[in-house]
Amino acid sequence: MNILGVTGPALHDNSAALFVDGKLVAAAEEERFIRVKHAKRRHPVNAIKFCLAQAGIGPREVDVVAYPYVHVGLTSPARWHYARRHWYEPARALRAIFDGNRKWRRKRGSVLQLLDELGIGSQRVRFVPVEHHLAHASSAYHLSGFEEKTAIVSFDGKGEYATTFFGYGENGKIHKIKEFYDPDSLGWFYGALTEYLGFEFQDGEYKVMGMAPYGDPHRYDLSRLIHHSGASFRVNTRLVNVIGHRRHRANGKEYSVSPAFVDWLGPVRNGDDIDEPYIHYAAATQRLLEDAALALIDHYVGDLIRETGKLCFAGGVALNVKLNQRLLAWPHLRELFVQPAAGDAGTSVGAASYVAMSLGEPVQKLEHVYLGPSFSTDECIRVCRQHPQRPSWARLDDAPARAAQILAGGQPLAWFQGRMEFGPRALGNRSILGDPSRPGMAERINGQIKYRERWRPFCPSVLDTVARDLVQSDHPAPYMTIAFDVAERWKARIPEVVHKDGSARVQVVSEASNPRFYRLISELERHTGNAVVLNTSMNRRGEPIVCTPADALDMFYGSDLQCLIMEDILITKDGAPAT
Ligand SMILES: [Fe+2]
Repeated sequence: MNILGVTGPALHDNSAALFVDGKLVAAAEEERFIRVKHAKRRHPVNAIKFCLAQAGIGPREVDVVAYPYVHVGLTSPARWHYARRHWYEPARALRAIFDGNRKWRRKRGSVLQLLDELGIGSQRVRFVPVEHHLAHASSAYHLSGFEEKTAIVSFDGKGEYATTFFGYGENGKIHKIKEFYDPDSLGWFYGALTEYLGFEFQDGEYKVMGMAPYGDPHRYDLSRLIHHSGASFRVNTRLVNVIGHRRHRANGKEYSVSPAFVDWLGPVRNGDDIDEPYIHYAAATQRLLEDAALALIDHYVGDLIRETGKLCFAGGVALNVKLNQRLLAWPHLRELFVQPAAGDAGTSVGAASYVAMSLGEPVQKLEHVYLGPSFSTDECIRVCRQHPQRPSWARLDDAPARAAQILAGGQPLAWFQGRMEFGPRALGNRSILGDPSRPGMAERINGQIKYRERWRPFCPSVLDTVARDLVQSDHPAPYMTIAFDVAERWKARIPEVVHKDGSARVQVVSEASNPRFYRLISELERHTGNAVVLNTSMNRRGEPIVCTPADALDMFYGSDLQCLIMEDILITKDGAPAT
């Protein structure tokens, strides 16, 4: 059976995913094709076309379309909760009661129209809506490969109305335990603070997490923003997660915090520096998120975790690697599976996997996220020949060995190989790499290409042969979704990928998961003694990760990088020492 999952036009990170007989064969975010980050309010047209082409099927061979958004009935507590909690904006509150599915109707109509335009046929295909948080939950549980009874948690900004989901999976079926609704949202609390700290809402959250270790979480008490007792939690909408007239307005922009919040903590932060008191606010925000999340998780699924030791986690908040580190520190939690595309991009996968399971088609465990397009060496050469910069390129007999040689010589390297990653992390196929043992490498990459805030950490990809020694844990970490404390003896060896607090968001690379990347790191180990490479995504600041060879060349010539390897060719700029 061919089951296509599509998001869109949801607000954010639109994507498509295709399951063929229970196996996830293709998935991609639309942003990569249209070159607009997050592809907000855009249909995943190109992502759908790619998924079908990758599987070699035509539009009329799609049996089911799964969609991660549903109609919410008037008897659901969700709409009444929303109305009650937004009493201060009566028009919005009343709309939730009398016209609570406006968004649903609009979204459904435009998706059906898209299916017709693509030749899939809205009347022919079976169209199955899936609750947003069930899609998140399924994207983690059904792809985890866990067979025992498993706790499932999903935290995001907001689905239809739900923001927070607790449940469990047993024998392939997901059972709901508890949900919380808008405006009581951990994702939007963190997003509101992200905005206040000078970053973009639903984009810069990881920057707050990166800033937090520079501050003191106890310097300011932000506890009045979220009241939580384990069983319940409530966001203080006099200060945060506010809408309408309660919003702070400045510089032509509206914020999700109130003027009272700004009176209390000061003006919205500007600029790229880490400065007081904002670093302390970031630290306190991160701590409050962790404390509230851990208390809720313990209350609702703590017993389940104690029973089998397993937890599946999805929703945008599951990308918070420091929260995941604290979760994993629970002695009774033996294995944590975080869906690598935990944000809304992953709901195309989750909706499709949920429908597959409910139709009796077992879903296979996720083995890797190399689910996007790939390009042969000949295709890369053809693109070089057509590129206006007239790249000079050379064929390589052994690309991983040459890559390691360039890195060991002190050059950063753009490394474009195989199928593009699905999810926000580059995991060795669309990466910029550097030698993490060379002091100043992070600064150099920032100077040449990323131009990002200098206080943000770079991450390591590590061979499985040394991972245990480096992070003092055997826990699986293939997707950069969990931070680990770096062992003292490694900190001086790879200073460029250890964060201020001594942690690192590692990717553990096995030979089976990515043989070429594995080989590259093995070769680098021969040169440097460390089976570790600095790995950051191949994109310029504010742009999506590259998808095609043409994107890679555009990125390369728009930066000061000197070396790019695409499949089996090396491209260098004039005078680059690596040639
Ligand atoms: Fe979501």
